[in-house]
Formats: sequence, C-alpha cells, structure tokens
Amino acid sequence: MNGGRFITLEGLEGAGKSSRAVELKAFLERHGKPVLLTREPGGTPLGERLRELLLTPADTPMAPLTELLLMFAARSEHVTRVILPALDAGQWVVCDRYVDASYAYQGGGRGLGAAPVAALEALLPPRARPDLTVLLDLPVETGLARASKRGAADRFERETVEFHARVRAAYLDRAQQAPQRYCVVDAAADPAAVQADIERAAGALL
Ligand code: TYD
Repeated sequence: MNGGRFITLEGLEGAGKSSRAVELKAFLERHGKPVLLTREPGGTPLGERLRELLLTPADTPMAPLTELLLMFAARSEHVTRVILPALDAGQWVVCDRYVDASYAYQGGGRGLGAAPVAALEALLPPRARPDLTVLLDLPVETGLARASKRGAADRFERETVEFHARVRAAYLDRAQQAPQRYCVVDAAADPAAVQADIERAAGALL
C-alpha cells in the first residue's frame, strides 16, 4: 500500500476543530481510507503529560521559549512514535493542531517570531510535513465567546484578545505563504457548510 496522507486542522479557540476532525475522519473512512485521528500537544503518553504542563494554568509564568521547546518535545515523540509509523503503514493521519500552531501561538501570540519555530521544524523529517492544512478561521471575539462556554479556561484560553488577534494574524500569514498546502475555511459559517469546504479540500487528495 502507498503511504497515507497527512492532514492537519488549525484555528483559534472555539473554531470547532475537534468536531470537524471527527467528521473528516468519517468522510475519509467512507472513501475506504484507514484513518488515525490524533492531536497536539499530545498523542503519546509523554506528549499527554507535556500537554497537561502546557495547558494547566500555573502561578508562575512559563518563558515563551520554554513553551515552544515543550511543544516540540511533545511533537518529536508524536512524529517518531505515531505519525510516521502510521503514514508508513498506509494510514491517513488527521491531526488536530501541528507545527503551524507553534508559528501562530509561540511565534505570533508570544512574540517569538517565526525564526525559532522554523529552526525546530527543520529538525523534523521531511515526510512529517502535512499534505493539507485546513485553517478554520473566524473572528477572535466569536471564537473566544464559543470557547468560554466549554468550562474552565486553559492557559491559552485565558490570554487576552490581543494575544489571540496575533495568533490569528500569524495563521493567516502562514496560509498566504503556502497557498498550495493551506485551505482557509470560514469557521463562522454553519457547521454543514464548513464541513463541505473541508471535504472538498480533502477530497482533492483522494
Ligand atoms: P486545543 O487544541 O484548543 O484543545 P481543546 O480544543 O481541547 O481546548 O488546545 C491546545 C492549545 O495548545 C491551544 O490553545 C493552542 C496551544 N498550542 C500552542 O500554543 N502551540 C502548539 O504548537 C500547539 C500544538 C498547541
């Protein structure tokens, strides 16, 4: 069997990524593809422990570079132990957030810029680059209002509107720089329309 394809989903808090990821998996399975659905930070036992450290609000702030390195520590485990073996076995991998989230949150939101993220990304094997990245884009206020209905806010959801505006701008900038890989979807639209856009983009890989 040929190697599988690698699709990532990105977006602000409240963009609806997790539900869309489950539906994308179902769509691909209807087309006969074996699909692994996973997420970042996380996706491995060590990665899930790092996720806990990264998302739990703490009294002492975390330095932005520490945050970036922990994201990539989790990602290294995930790529080596989960993503590449799945792709090599012919599975399609759908990942809820990936490297672009580091460009958006640590590069944009935390103000580190793209250079340190690019330096770490260069350490990943070339095969670990997504074939398609779906950006679920929506206004910051809409996303935060949706996310606030989901219970206790995590360390990122507690950030300011300005932080999330920088995240959104960095995502849109990434999308503009790689239009052949990115599909930007209006996540403020109704879920069925959003799903149709995603299926059109993923369908082109089938
Ligand atoms: P998220 O995917 O939003 O999970 P949930 O929908 O369950 O809340 O949570 C992950 C958070 O981690 C999100 O706020 C973005 C952040 N993040 C980064 O800052 N950098 C990264 O590289 C990744 C993968 C995630």
